[in-house]
Amino acid sequence: MLEQIKSTAAYIQSKISIQPEIGIILGTGLGGLVEEIKIKHTIDYKEIPNFPVSTVEGHSGKLIFGELGGKNVVAMQGRFHFYEGYTLQQVTFPVRVMKLLGIKNLFVSNAAGGVNSNFEIGELMIINDHINMFPSNPLIGKNIPELGPRFPDMSDAYDRIIIEKAKAVAARNNIKVAEGVYLGLSGPTFETPAEYRMVKILGADAVGMSTVPEVIVARHMKIPCFAMSIITDLGVEGKIVQVTHQDVQEVAALAEKKMTIIMKELIKEL
Ligand code: HPA
Repeated sequence: MLEQIKSTAAYIQSKISIQPEIGIILGTGLGGLVEEIKIKHTIDYKEIPNFPVSTVEGHSGKLIFGELGGKNVVAMQGRFHFYEGYTLQQVTFPVRVMKLLGIKNLFVSNAAGGVNSNFEIGELMIINDHINMFPSNPLIGKNIPELGPRFPDMSDAYDRIIIEKAKAVAARNNIKVAEGVYLGLSGPTFETPAEYRMVKILGADAVGMSTVPEVIVARHMKIPCFAMSIITDLGVEGKIVQVTHQDVQEVAALAEKKMTIIMKELIKEL
């Protein structure tokens, strides 16, 4: 796999003239951050050797290189999910490549269901820890010692210093943010009421279908991570209603401006 990662990184390097310092994975609802990037290069995933091929027709996804908050960034517009049928190694392959391109930090966003009874729909949550409930782990298989250890530490998966900075940025901009634990599972079904209850009992504040694999792989390579969720629906007893992907997208679109401000201001300060 190392050879594939290296050759993909070399291909991308031959197409770009900047070295990204920060990697960004844009989840449901953070597309708007792209409008803030002074774009220098765009590469379609389908042009990139070894990149996973999208299962959704017409939604190939793009790697975007440019400047944001005075820093060179690489943003993934479109991420890969386990529920689409990719392996967790495929889902996280772009994170490996971004490391070889030189990123020093990884920023991730997602939409999630809130199970903390204090949460409201449309609220933002800074992820301060996670629980991996995917049926596997992206590091299963032969370890690549050049990239990281066999048994990586996960005691500080989400960088405390960046979290404190993000909270200060949010306060300064009068944006309310919560902080909590994200539980990642496979999807694609949303949770039953009993499953939401389980998620809460297990110690999480929010639940979603992404982010955990990417952060595991980033931490394997010692990349400091920062991640935020938009709480798009509630898995709270008494408040559970039917939820559709469209509801999730609509709420995410409403809350996205707030998340974009935090991400952009935070990147300036790193
Ligand atoms: N569950 C899982 N994933 C989600 C949810 C949810 O309630 N909302 C947005 N993504």
